[in-house]
Amino acid sequence: MNEHRPVNPLRLLDRPRWAEQVPSWADAKPGIIRAALARALARPSGGWYVLAGSREVRADRAFGRVIGGREVVAWRDGAGTLHAGPGACPHLGAALCDAPVHDGRLVCRWHGLALGPEGHRGWRTFPVHDDGVLAWVRLESAGEAVTDAPVLGPRPDPERSVAAVATMIGRCEPEDVLANRLDPWHGAWFHPYSFANLRVLSAPAVDCPDTEDRFLVEVAFTLVPRVGVPVIAEFTCPDPRTITMEIVDGEGAGSVVETHATPLRPDEHGRPRTAVIEATVAHSDRPGFVHTRKVAGALRPLMALAARRLWRDDLDYAERRYALRAAR
Ligand code: FES
Ligand SMILES: [Fe+2]
Repeated sequence: MNEHRPVNPLRLLDRPRWAEQVPSWADAKPGIIRAALARALARPSGGWYVLAGSREVRADRAFGRVIGGREVVAWRDGAGTLHAGPGACPHLGAALCDAPVHDGRLVCRWHGLALGPEGHRGWRTFPVHDDGVLAWVRLESAGEAVTDAPVLGPRPDPERSVAAVATMIGRCEPEDVLANRLDPWHGAWFHPYSFANLRVLSAPAVDCPDTEDRFLVEVAFTLVPRVGVPVIAEFTCPDPRTITMEIVDGEGAGSVVETHATPLRPDEHGRPRTAVIEATVAHSDRPGFVHTRKVAGALRPLMALAARRLWRDDLDYAERRYALRAAR
């Protein structure tokens, strides 16, 4: 197939002016979005939360994050294996989030207690999963069934892809983050700098079965206003805190953007805070992509920046949705 593909994936776009686009509000039925969100929230998580990008957890110092009000600390041992445990030292409760790592163990800064994968009285490590792009931790909640590994969506071949992870914090709940992405109709209106000519090809019916639970969207990712890459993208929710966009046709088919919403702890006014941890795994079967992989180090911050710009606006959307919900 490759030989028939145009050398340059960029297209000159014939796009209307912003206010002259076809309004999408009549198609963006609140009931469809609400039903898709309810189905996503009803899926099992197995107790798994995305903690951070894999690269953020290092072998020389601890990485700390409060998940759903629970302090978690993570680190890597000498072999690079991921570990995580409670973020308070079992001796007198010192915060472990800034503990140095020595010989593969966290060393508490208050009195030097070394904490390793074997644990300590009153301090047991949590199950973790490192999928190569994201670091996950399993935290048990009363009444929730746990699983051995998180539910993972589609991912391209790691040998032929470049991954970047960006994290942003919003004052909302995880469901607001999902609801924003379960409204694909806002794309070209709300993010005209990133999307053009967006058409929702299919949306799941209010009573659709799990096997048909996806949005199919035709859109051009724009680089400058009149130049873009047309693709077809599919949106699905593999678990109650994740929404995945997979490019199913067009340049970069197989690439995914996984948006994970991890609840943190409330702010000083008691408003919920959620980390949006977004992994972009770009893939191409073009021969030149191997060279792109070599410059992956330079590409990563750029990919993360593009995600950040989109998410400044999408967090406004999610925070607004939360504020409206909270006011009711
Ligand atoms: S509080 Fe950690 S060793 Fe004392
Ligand atoms: Fe958006």
